[in-house]
Amino acid sequence: MWWASSLLQYKPAAILRTRRIAIAVETWFRANQRPLPWRSTYDPYQVWISEVMLQQTRMEVVLRYYTRFLGRFPTIASLAAAPLDEVLAAWSGLGYYRRARMLHAAAGRVMERFEGELPRQVPELMTIPGIGRYTAGAIASIAFGRRAPIVDGNIARILARLEGFGDPPGPALMRRSWPAEETLVAASGSPRDFNQGLMELGALVCRPAAPRCDECPLRRSCVAHRTGRVADLPARTARKESRSLVIPLYLIEDRRGRILMRRESGALMTSMFHLPHGATDLFDTPPVEIEPGRHLGSFRHTITDRRIEFHVYRAGATARAIADRRGEYAWIDPSGLEALPHPSYVDKALKFIGA
Ligand code: ADE
Repeated sequence: MWWASSLLQYKPAAILRTRRIAIAVETWFRANQRPLPWRSTYDPYQVWISEVMLQQTRMEVVLRYYTRFLGRFPTIASLAAAPLDEVLAAWSGLGYYRRARMLHAAAGRVMERFEGELPRQVPELMTIPGIGRYTAGAIASIAFGRRAPIVDGNIARILARLEGFGDPPGPALMRRSWPAEETLVAASGSPRDFNQGLMELGALVCRPAAPRCDECPLRRSCVAHRTGRVADLPARTARKESRSLVIPLYLIEDRRGRILMRRESGALMTSMFHLPHGATDLFDTPPVEIEPGRHLGSFRHTITDRRIEFHVYRAGATARAIADRRGEYAWIDPSGLEALPHPSYVDKALKFIGA
C-alpha cells in the first residue's frame, strides 16, 4: 500500500505553516535588517570574508576589521598572492588565527581550481579548505541566491524554540536543525533574505536570554511560545567546568626600547610572535624560567574557550641572556609590531609600558 503512506506524508497544513514561516522571516528581514557593510554588494568574496570573520568573533569587533581587511586584500587574487604573514598581521586581534591561514590557503585553491571565482554550489564550495557546510550554505544562499540551508548556534536556538526541539545545544540539536532549516529555505522566495533573516532574528529578537517574543514575526508559529516554554528551550547543557589558567608574561626591553619576542615553532611562515611566558600548554612556544622583576599589572583575556589571567612582569639582565643563547628570539620594535602576526594578548601586555 505504498500510495497510502506517501499520501500520509503529504501534509497540507505543515506545508502551509512552512511557507508562512519563510515569508514572515523574509518580510521581517527586509523591514528590520541592520545596514551592515557586507549587505551592500553581496559580492561572493565579501560574503565569504564576513562569514568567516563572524563565525567566532563578535559583530562589533568584526566591524572594526572587515573594511580594513578588504581594503588590504580587495580580491581573491590579491589575498592568494599576499604573503601569509601579511594576512596574519591583518587578522591580528580577531583571534582564531587558523581561520586566516585557511582563508589564505583557500584563496590559492580558488585561483588554481576555479579560475579565481567562488563556485556557486554547496558541494564545490565544500572542496575549498576551511569552507564547511555552514559557510558553503551561507555563500551559496546569500551571494548566489541558492536554496542552501545554514545552521549555526543562533539558528539552532531559533529552530529549537520554533519546532520545540528538546535537545540542549550540541550535535543532537544540530542534526535535527539541518533538515528543518532545509525544509524552510526550500519554501522561501529569497534564500538570501530568509537565511540572513534567521541570523538577524537570532541577534535581535530570538536572543539567548530575554527574547523579544512580542516583536517576533514567528510567534504564532512558534511551538515554544505557544506552550510557554521559551525560557526552557533550547534545554540547558550541564555546566562545563570553566577552565581558567594563570600565565606570567615577561617584558624584556633592550636599551633601544625593543621587546624580546619569540615566534612559535612549526612552519616559520605560519607562526605568530609571542612574549616570553611561564609554563602553559596553551602556546607552542616553550616557557622560560626566569626571575620576574617588577609586577606591572594583570589582565584577563580569553583565547578560544580558555579564560586566562595574565600577570605581566618586567624581567631584566639574566633574562636578556635568553636572547643571546637561542636564535628563536628576536628584538622587536613595538612600533613595528602591527606588521607582524601576533595574538592580541601581546597588545594588552604592552600597554603596561605605554608601547
Ligand atoms: N552572523 C553570521 N553571519 C552573519 C551575517 N551575514 N549577518 C549578521 N550576522 C551574522
